[in-house]
Amino acid sequence: MASRAKSGGLMQSSLQDILGSYNDQSPLCEAYTVPASWYVDERIAELERRYVFGGTWQVVAGVDQLRQPGQFVTRELAGEPIVVVCGNDGALRAFYNVCRHHAAAVVTESEGSASIFRCPYHGWSYGLDGSLKGAPEFDGVCSFDRAQNGLVPVQVAAWEHFVFVNLDPKASSLETFLGRLVQRVEPLMLSQVKFFERRTYSLNCNWKVFVDNYLDGGYHVPHLHKGLNSVLDYRQYTTENQDRYCLQSSPMVSSDEDAATSAARQGDRAWYLWQYPNFMMNLYKGYMDTNLVLPDGVDRCKVIFDFYFDDVSTAAAEKNRQSIAVGERVNDEDVGICESVQRGLHSRAYGAGRLSVRREAGEHLFHRLLANDLKRGM
Ligand code: FES
Ligand SMILES: [Fe+2]
Repeated sequence: MASRAKSGGLMQSSLQDILGSYNDQSPLCEAYTVPASWYVDERIAELERRYVFGGTWQVVAGVDQLRQPGQFVTRELAGEPIVVVCGNDGALRAFYNVCRHHAAAVVTESEGSASIFRCPYHGWSYGLDGSLKGAPEFDGVCSFDRAQNGLVPVQVAAWEHFVFVNLDPKASSLETFLGRLVQRVEPLMLSQVKFFERRTYSLNCNWKVFVDNYLDGGYHVPHLHKGLNSVLDYRQYTTENQDRYCLQSSPMVSSDEDAATSAARQGDRAWYLWQYPNFMMNLYKGYMDTNLVLPDGVDRCKVIFDFYFDDVSTAAAEKNRQSIAVGERVNDEDVGICESVQRGLHSRAYGAGRLSVRREAGEHLFHRLLANDLKRGM
């Protein structure tokens, strides 16, 4: 492809052409980003909904929310209503939250505890294992097999703090999906931190812009995040790509440039871990935050930040909030630039960009995995 700027014609390119305009075989030194059209085209968003969010393992809850028999959460994933529940036997189960009678949502609260799920419409009830328990006034209905009318199951599994579901019934296991990540993360001891607080942000950019920004190997840190940069040894920043994850890491340095950041971000190393397609974990000593990026139309996304600390006692609450404030400042800087990028992606002046070999290997991995899933969908 000679020119990477948009052709500017009024004719809409076919989806095939748009997908074909990215070459996922290029080595990093020759690679381009995925084209701008992938960030603004509704048809790409629809393909992603089905084959990325509807076909990969997605974080939907924390294991702490589903520990006791009867505890449940409801979520929407790739446009599908889902309920995840801890059964009477302690096992996790997930179902489409769609009544088998006339399709109403059976569970209406976002989380809670129940011994049975009763549909608010005509009172059909389901056990925590999804089986149909009661269908009022249904005597005399021919060829109606209760055993065939339970809630439709969804694959579910847990790893570390997180409960994942996968809408593709043929998908391989969560363990296979995570691959070597499981072993790689073990020494980081994620289990030592405990959930403290959740904050949700809405951004005016495509979800991939946020992920790209995360995966640029620290490239933007000295320019955009002066405070954070003061505690990282930028020159020693490393990026490691494996399977479906990218692990970025940087040694920490002590600095008196930014007192709030130095107090909140401690330890020998910072770890920034991304798992395809939309989940990140950021670790410092005694601290973790996770970011779950969810599309909200083609030009918007929602990012759910969960903050974890080693000490979540009342005595530590103020210190933890100060640490969150440091994170929020960094996030504000990222939000501004991500929204600027989204506006630029709409410009006729931009088609696709090149990647820094030193810094942007993570983005390259993301774009190749994404292209693979979308092309498989076609
Ligand atoms: S839709 Fe659920 S009972 Fe009728
Ligand atoms: Fe950033």
